[in-house]
Amino acid sequence: MSNNIAGKVVVITGASSGLGEAAARHLAREGASVVLGARRADRIDALAGELARDGGRALAVATDVTDVAQVKRLVDAAVATCGRIDVIINNAGLMPQSPLERLKIDEWDRMIDVNIKGVLYGIAAALPHMKRQKAGHIINVSSVAGHKVRAGGAVYAATKHAVLALSEGLRQEVKPYNIRTTVISPGAVATELPDRISEPDVAADFHKFYEAFAIPADSFARAVAFAIAQPEEVDINEILYRPTRQEM
Ligand SMILES: NC(=O)c1ccc[n+]([C@@H]2O[C@H](COP(=O)([O-])OP(=O)(O)OC[C@H]3O[C@@H](n4cnc5c(N)ncnc54)[C@H](OP(=O)(O)O)[C@@H]3O)[C@@H](O)[C@H]2O)c1
Repeated sequence: MSNNIAGKVVVITGASSGLGEAAARHLAREGASVVLGARRADRIDALAGELARDGGRALAVATDVTDVAQVKRLVDAAVATCGRIDVIINNAGLMPQSPLERLKIDEWDRMIDVNIKGVLYGIAAALPHMKRQKAGHIINVSSVAGHKVRAGGAVYAATKHAVLALSEGLRQEVKPYNIRTTVISPGAVATELPDRISEPDVAADFHKFYEAFAIPADSFARAVAFAIAQPEEVDINEILYRPTRQEM
C-alpha cells in the first residue's frame, strides 16, 4: 500500500544538519527523492552519497537561501532531474538570540534574511511549478517562538510569527491550484541551532535549557512525514509540538 511519500520529489532547505537532515533521512527511507539545499556543500554532498548508498534517491545543490537566484536554481534542479517538485520544506533558519538593547543589528538582519526572506524565496521558486502541476505541498518551519514571545528573543520570535502569517496567507491563496500548506512549529529539539548564539551568557542559558529539555530531531521528521502522508484531499495546516517536559 502506498504511504503517499514514496516517489515524491521533496526539496529541503537547511538539509546540512538538524531538522532538515533528519527529515531528509526519514523521507528517503520512505521512498521519496530528496533534493538537499544548504551552504555547507560538503555536508549535503556526504548526506546525498550516504542516502544513495542505502538505496535512496538524493541530490545535493549548494544553496544560500538569502539569494533568490540560488533558491530558484535548487528548485529548478529538482524539476530538471526528477521531472517535478511535490514538496518544498522551507526549513533553513538561525536563532542568534539576544536582548534588543545589545543592538546586534547584523544578527537581526541575518535572521530576517534567512528566516523570512529565505522562506519567501522558497515559495517563489516552487509556486510556478506547483501551479502548473496543479499539485504540490509547501511546508514552512516556524517555532514555538512563532506563538510565544519571551524577553531576549524578540527578533527571532518576530521572524517565526512572520512565517506563521505568510503560511496562513499562502494557504488561502493557493486553494485554486490544489496546493497543500503546512506550518510546523517545534519546541526545543537537539540540533546545532543554539551553537550560533554569539552572546556568551545567552548561549550558556540556551545550552543548559537544550541539554535538559531538547528531544531528538526525528520528532520533526515524523511530523513532516505525517503531513505529507495524508491523502491528497487532506491538508494538515499547522503542527505545534514540544518536548513533553517543556513548559514555555
Ligand atoms: N532546534 C530547535 O529547537 C528548533 C525549534 C523550533 C524551530 N526550529 C527551526 O528549525 C529550522 C532548522 O533549524 P535546526 O534546529 O535544524 O538548526 P541547525 O542544525 O542549526 O540547522 C540550520 C540549517 O539551516 C541552514 N542555513 C542557515 N543559514 C542558511 C542560509 N543562508 N542558506 C541556506 N541554509 C542555511 C544550515 O545550513 P548551512 O549552515 O550549511 O547553510 C542548517 O542546515 C530553523 O528554521 C529553526 O528556526 C528549530
